[in-house]
Amino acid sequence: MVFHVKRRSLLSDSLDSRLRRGLGLFRAATVAAPVSRETLTPMQDSETIDQIDDTPIARAAQAAVQAIGRAGQGLPRPAATRVIVVANQKGGVGKTTTTVNMAASLAMHGLRVLVVDLDPQGNASTALGIDHHAEVPSIYDVLVEGKPLADVVQPVRDVEGLFCVPATIDLAGAEIELVSLVARESRLQRAIAAYEQPLDYILIDCPPSLGLLTVNALVAGQEVLIPIQCEYYALEGLGQLLRNVELVRAHLNPALHVSTILLTMYDARTRLAAQVAEEVRTHFQREVLSTAIPRSVRISEAPSYGQTVLTYDPGSTGALSYLEAARELALRAVGRNGSPVGQQRDGQQGHVAPAAQHGTTEGHQ
Ligand SMILES: Nc1ncnc2c1ncn2[C@@H]1O[C@H](COP(=O)(O)OP(=O)(O)OP(=O)(O)O)[C@@H](O)[C@H]1O
Ligand SMILES: [Mg+2]
Repeated sequence: MVFHVKRRSLLSDSLDSRLRRGLGLFRAATVAAPVSRETLTPMQDSETIDQIDDTPIARAAQAAVQAIGRAGQGLPRPAATRVIVVANQKGGVGKTTTTVNMAASLAMHGLRVLVVDLDPQGNASTALGIDHHAEVPSIYDVLVEGKPLADVVQPVRDVEGLFCVPATIDLAGAEIELVSLVARESRLQRAIAAYEQPLDYILIDCPPSLGLLTVNALVAGQEVLIPIQCEYYALEGLGQLLRNVELVRAHLNPALHVSTILLTMYDARTRLAAQVAEEVRTHFQREVLSTAIPRSVRISEAPSYGQTVLTYDPGSTGALSYLEAARELALRAVGRNGSPVGQQRDGQQGHVAPAAQHGTTEGHQ
């Protein structure tokens, strides 16, 4: 396969330099041409690159270029804030990873996104580079002390339009403390309803349990996003989660529905992953995103640098797949008719958000 790329026009994209680092792959691909790096002469504006082999790195480069271009195009802004609960009581299936990377992808498309960390482990806060030691004002203060959400929201460094409500270890006691409080199941919902800042998306990262914290999320949200890890026990326990969603819908939140299922940690080399993916797609034809998130070292490394994979390694397959999944999530909702939760944003349906300008802090390759 041959593809033609004008190098100058790509480099002059007005996107965040972090995103443009994805072009590193593109440059690497040029080295895959039958000349060494040393013998390459600087290219002229209109010069094209011909005869680049169809190597994996060339394909990755091409995907990076496409994704970066698409990030600049923006995504539809929902008419009302979409409150999405990322839940699965099974541990380690990619809830937090999905929450932070989907949120960053949406924000990079120019949308305003809030991540609510509802897990005492505070992993989403860590991944977004937000300090969450015990004294930091957090979601605990909102749920148990009744503090306004606005008092605990923090902007995420590096990604404009992305905000986070951190969780501290205090939250570990909240399951018990909430029991005796008034309106214990709807405290998060009330806090979100009272939050006046305009937001396009709120993503709530749930703990791996179906206790009062998760119930608060299910009452506050309109949609449930279930990450499913492509492994043998993937569907075990899913019935319990679906029953809980049904119970909350019947008694507390009629708008709630499972809108999205995302296959995570997909390893294309194993037959098992393909079988699990097929089974999930058969059961949940409408809900499963066609993009599956591959198992990727870059995705698992990013949190240790307090980053999402989108800023840590924008050209990686992990970053590209989350960009694509977020795009699907945003585009699928267009024309859907769920009752809105959160504040109405009049006159903005169908409006395409301009691409955000992002921070430029250098990261790690
Ligand atoms: N696509 C992926 N490729 C490789 N590693 C991944 C991927 N997605 C998640 N991981 C890693 O798997 C582990 C579990 O992911 P994550 O913390 O997102 O799951 P979780 O469902 O939020 O877990 P918990 O139930 O404890 O909250 C983490 O170490 C994470 O870095
Ligand atoms: Mg988690």
